[in-house]
Amino acid sequence: METPKKVVLVTGATGGLGTAMCQKLYEDGYTIAANYRNREKAEAWHQKMQDSGIAVHLYEGDVTDYNSVGSMVAAIEAELGPVNVLVNNAGITRDGRFAKMSPEDWHAVIATNLDSVFNCSRQVINGMIERQYGRIINISSVNGQRGQFGQANYSAAKAGMHGFTKTLAMEVAKYGITVNTISPGYIGTDMVMAVEQKYRDAIVAQIPVGRLGGTHEVAYLVSFLASEDAAFITGANYSINGGQHVY
Ligand SMILES: NC(=O)c1ccc[n+]([C@@H]2O[C@H](COP(=O)([O-])OP(=O)(O)OC[C@H]3O[C@@H](n4cnc5c(N)ncnc54)[C@H](OP(=O)(O)O)[C@@H]3O)[C@@H](O)[C@H]2O)c1
Repeated sequence: METPKKVVLVTGATGGLGTAMCQKLYEDGYTIAANYRNREKAEAWHQKMQDSGIAVHLYEGDVTDYNSVGSMVAAIEAELGPVNVLVNNAGITRDGRFAKMSPEDWHAVIATNLDSVFNCSRQVINGMIERQYGRIINISSVNGQRGQFGQANYSAAKAGMHGFTKTLAMEVAKYGITVNTISPGYIGTDMVMAVEQKYRDAIVAQIPVGRLGGTHEVAYLVSFLASEDAAFITGANYSINGGQHVY
């Protein structure tokens, strides 16, 4: 009998990086549970993926809401099977100098980028422990490693994510579960490509490799950390930033 394919849940799947992750993980043979919040955007995205021959299963869920994630995970597990790989990828920015930052912008970023990691990991961890297998991959940022003007909220959330990774990695290592962080630098997503050329050139000038990263390059790292061969890697933070920040 064929071994059942593993189910991967990618949060914020319809975004720039999420799309590349779904594509790569589908090629790897996973069944993809693609989380979204904006239905209209997700339906158009789903059609585009289908047209490119990539099968994804859409699941609505607000990652800032523990119960919403709980219902989503229950639906995925009933329809596709247990979630063996979780990619905590959903994220937002609400940039502004700290002296002017509103409590709303602080809380929105912490809720979406950090509380989400608790909500989603907590809703899948006991199943992973029972099955003695799991992969959790948290998408952080270079700006959580080094700080960034105007991003006190984002940098705090992204740095917090790696503190979480290290502790959870220790707690669940004995159950065959790995937990790792990926910290991308500037990646050529639509959002970054929409930035005026002169500002993009200024960003690229700070990157020793001399270009923006490709979404497929981040997806490749996700695929590697999700694989069974990456079983001895846990509690790690992988920089993928073209040499922009080395430490
Ligand atoms: N692009 C870069 O250069 C870069 C660099 C470093 C780190 N990152 C990190 O990589 C991750 C993906 O970034 P991206 O560039 O692909 O961003 P993106 O295109 O804006 O995608 C972000 C996704 O998160 C989803 N999302 C936001 N709030 C949500 C919520 N409450 N519940 C469920 N989903 C929610 C959005 O879904 P809806 O549209 O449905 O709301 C969207 O699909 C983020 O965590 C980001 O911080 C990106």
